[in-house]
Amino acid sequence: MKNQYYPNLADIITINGVTFKNRIFGAPMSNPELDPSCHMRKEDLAFHENRARGGLASVAVGLGIVDPVGRVHTKEVTLYDIGSLPSLKEYANAMHRHNCIAVMELAHGGKYAGARSHDGAGEPLVLGPNDEVNPDGLHVTSMSDEEIERVAGCYADAAVLCQKAGIDMVLVHGGHGWLLGQFMSPTMNHRTDKWGGSLENRMRFPLLVIDKIRKACGNKMLIEYRMSGSEIIEGGYGIDEGIKMAKVLDGKVDIIHVSAGVHEDQDAFVVTHPSMFIEHGCNVYLAAEIKKHVKTPVATVGGLNDPDMMEEIIASGQADIVEIARQSICDPYFPEKAFSGKKDDITKCCRCFTCFYNYLTNRTFCCAFNPVVGNELENKSGFPATEPKKVIVVGGGVGGMEAAITAAKRGHAVTLFEKNSRLGGQLLAEQYIPFKKDMYNFAQVLERRLRETNVDVRLNTKITAQEVAGLGADVVMVAVGAKPVVPPIEGIGSEKVARLDALHHEEPQVGQKVVILGGGLVGSEAAIYLDSLGKDVTIVEMKDDWASDAYFMHKNAMNIYMRGSNIKICLNTVAEAVTDEGLLCRTHEEEILLEADTVLLAAGMKVDQEQVNDFYHTAERVFMIGDCVKPGRVLEAVSLGYNRAIDI
Ligand SMILES: Cc1cc2nc3c(=O)[nH]c(=O)nc-3n(C[C@H](O)[C@H](O)[C@H](O)COP(=O)(O)O)c2cc1C
Repeated sequence: MKNQYYPNLADIITINGVTFKNRIFGAPMSNPELDPSCHMRKEDLAFHENRARGGLASVAVGLGIVDPVGRVHTKEVTLYDIGSLPSLKEYANAMHRHNCIAVMELAHGGKYAGARSHDGAGEPLVLGPNDEVNPDGLHVTSMSDEEIERVAGCYADAAVLCQKAGIDMVLVHGGHGWLLGQFMSPTMNHRTDKWGGSLENRMRFPLLVIDKIRKACGNKMLIEYRMSGSEIIEGGYGIDEGIKMAKVLDGKVDIIHVSAGVHEDQDAFVVTHPSMFIEHGCNVYLAAEIKKHVKTPVATVGGLNDPDMMEEIIASGQADIVEIARQSICDPYFPEKAFSGKKDDITKCCRCFTCFYNYLTNRTFCCAFNPVVGNELENKSGFPATEPKKVIVVGGGVGGMEAAITAAKRGHAVTLFEKNSRLGGQLLAEQYIPFKKDMYNFAQVLERRLRETNVDVRLNTKITAQEVAGLGADVVMVAVGAKPVVPPIEGIGSEKVARLDALHHEEPQVGQKVVILGGGLVGSEAAIYLDSLGKDVTIVEMKDDWASDAYFMHKNAMNIYMRGSNIKICLNTVAEAVTDEGLLCRTHEEEILLEADTVLLAAGMKVDQEQVNDFYHTAERVFMIGDCVKPGRVLEAVSLGYNRAIDI
């Protein structure tokens, strides 16, 4: 029988004798942290198991490194170490507990290896297609025939280890500028021997790897080959060559997985991991082109978060499989919800890069919208409260809603007061901003979830601390948000000055010439939005950088937009007065007048401490949530809302 909602997406696919329960695969993601021997810990396994639990047909662990020489950093599972076997086995078992195909990525850093995994004893050996110096200043040695044979053997040994562990498929990483991608690339491979030059020669090493894996593991171990359909860098190969490469792989691997880009190029990075400024499914065309020329099943990946779009991709034959990485962090239950008619309950990934940033810098998985991620072992939300309490939540932004939903699900009697006519708080501002659509969607999803609980929601109700105290609650959760910083400059009360809520309308309530006072993340995003509407936009920022509070990948993505836009950015510039003509400012050298019809205030938010203080001791237990603790991101508001509700 076919699934009534997504007959194509939910359809099984049998590849080389193995049946995948649907067409949504979990794209490879490496672990933000591992144990000191670089084996997966319980926490890492719990993260991947949660992806499997939600209905993905397969889940891939990223960056199993096949050779000590190929290590780039310490987030890579050491597949050359037999000591990895126990955790790999646990991983395979965890996947199989959910009828999910267990996949391990096989990778080698090639010329980018060395620096971050180096123990400091002398210059590490770094291998690549050519003799050169890599971006970390390390000498790269061109691989000899023997080295190529040896490393190809490492891939096969790693695959054998995976097979022993019960893993069903290896995903050979030939894209994004990893070693095999370096050999495939005309711009990275300058060899003149049989491993370089023609496309046939550049594909020789990947084919050797595949051949060795097949010989070592037999036909029973599935091989998925990840390639970039286009390198999307200057001098890199494009889709025409990508098609030819796929034709070489056709019939030799079980799945051709078509991604895009090269990770060392900042602009390409935000296409490999599509940013919120690019349309969803922006890389599907690469898979679709390749699929026209091969018989092997083709997978597509990148910026996919909508089951309707995925259904269309499969139904129209653009790809046989869709793969998701960030969406499976944001809502691991995505497939189950889609296939059971609950697509409206899917939390859609908004591509804010919270996951990637925290993975790299804080060495943990987390998600702006999903408070469970990274804490799967501690997740207790399913446990009913031992003693149901009377809970009052003040404020219906995302933090307040998350708190109310979680508390209600645990059995508490919750009343939520919101002073406005709508729930959603700050995220309501994103409704009309195309690249923030998925953020707005999150507020709507929370509202829907809230309505499905028995929370008593009182809109248009501004409740005071005294009134709250009079209600005799056991717990009060205060999520009243923050207020905008208003710089104390002359003319700030002028009609010309608008707050960010001027953007909360279908037609923003600003003039043609807009000067944005404050070039942090919020001001910079507002600038991009207004520029896209054809406004003349200038950003005034007193620091020496704009959007300095943005995650750096998001900033890269904004930068691409900024470069092609008419937005003027004035750094090291201090606003002095709002005049009839515009905003008078001072730089280090001079006073300048920036003409404006509207001066848009984006100078940050601050806690309304007086208001917050009033709420203390309105009940035995009072919890503060979100911006009223410290103005921050959705991440902190949702996390606090969820975790404090667990604390009740
Ligand atoms: C946190 C994180 C870790 C990732 N780790 C890997 C990895 O180890 N190997 C790999 O090939 N791709 C890795 N990727 C890339 C994804 O597999 C995927 O290609 C990319 O994120 C685009 O898909 P998405 O838009 O569904 O996230 C990672 C992505 C994220 C967000």
